[in-house]
Amino acid sequence: MTRKKLSLDAGFCFHDRMSSSTASPAADRNRPPAANQVFASDNTAGICPEAWAALAEANRGRLPSYGNDEWTVRACDLLRSVFETDCDVFFVFNGTAANSLALASLCQSYHSVICHDYAHVETDECGAPEFFSNGTKILVATGPHGKLDPAEVERVILKRTDIHYPKPRVLSLTQSTEWGTVYTVDELKALTDLARRHGLAVHMDGARFANAATALAARGGCQPADFTWRAGVDVLCFGGTKNGMNTSEAVVFFNKPLAHEFDYRCKQAGQLASKMRFLSAQWVGMLQDGAWLRHAAHANQMAQKLAAALRTIPQVNILVEPEVNALFAGMPPKVAEALHARGWHFYNFIGAHGYRLMCSWDTRDADLDAFVADLKAACAKV
Ligand SMILES: Cc1ncc(COP(=O)(O)O)c(C=O)c1O
Repeated sequence: MTRKKLSLDAGFCFHDRMSSSTASPAADRNRPPAANQVFASDNTAGICPEAWAALAEANRGRLPSYGNDEWTVRACDLLRSVFETDCDVFFVFNGTAANSLALASLCQSYHSVICHDYAHVETDECGAPEFFSNGTKILVATGPHGKLDPAEVERVILKRTDIHYPKPRVLSLTQSTEWGTVYTVDELKALTDLARRHGLAVHMDGARFANAATALAARGGCQPADFTWRAGVDVLCFGGTKNGMNTSEAVVFFNKPLAHEFDYRCKQAGQLASKMRFLSAQWVGMLQDGAWLRHAAHANQMAQKLAAALRTIPQVNILVEPEVNALFAGMPPKVAEALHARGWHFYNFIGAHGYRLMCSWDTRDADLDAFVADLKAACAKV
């Protein structure tokens, strides 16, 4: 993994940068560049208005704890209607816990999980899936643009079938992928059929499921059910946080027997919220009138706009055609350095000079314009 974490200038925020014109010119010259997190991650955005309003509404009176409240019932029902099926739903605080606990519920300790070599469960969860499953091994397969290649998956499944090898038990897919691409329904079915043929269950890491959902809907009216359970997915970790919520992810079991005692797993892992209504109410706020899709569509559209602007700059190349809210761009190291020096934070993700620019529900045209102006200025100097 080549991603480098940039040092964060604690204490500076985007508004420091925007308000710098009010400082005196001398003071301005002496200021360190203010940190601008707009394109660093979709985690740098705040809570969207719909989730915030739902939190305020839920913050009234006394309600039962640990999920025995009306908000949690409504949120689960809304998720069932989004997916057009009966399913078991659990809310946890973050994606690592959602993925790890979901995978643990599908595996014994002697099993293995097959995922892409760029999958978050492999690269960015600090071994949590292995930890929570008491030793289940992650096996990686490859495929272009962050998507698993079925032939590669089959090769990994069949690599060994003897007792000395951790038995493949789960195929884990990320939708949308870590490379900002989206599996089509046909691609999903090819992978889930393969998994079924070899007796594997299917887990979907949907940290950016909303972005994939709007992208797929825009292509031909395909519904969330079509690219989850109807396409062979057993359990989905549906991300709320990157879509505009605060610390709330839904683990959705379409294959209900696999959810057996999942509530105990959550409790033991410290993921059973006592004031659950504040996790679940946000889902009500987001799902009841489609805000989850509107925010994701906006983030996706901003990535498209950014790509269009970057295509006009000869020194920059688009590494992967953006399908959701992430844009991967190559640029000369000196240009990236100049942008970092101007305060723009973003991560190196692909190879030595492939950078990820992430858009969110709150990315504005003014953010794009300011970034592109600085990028053009930096390119003019190299
Ligand atoms: C693909 C993917 N899965 C899961 C997660 C969730 O991680 P966290 O535990 O930080 O919420 C992330 C966050 O970056 C992600 O990009």
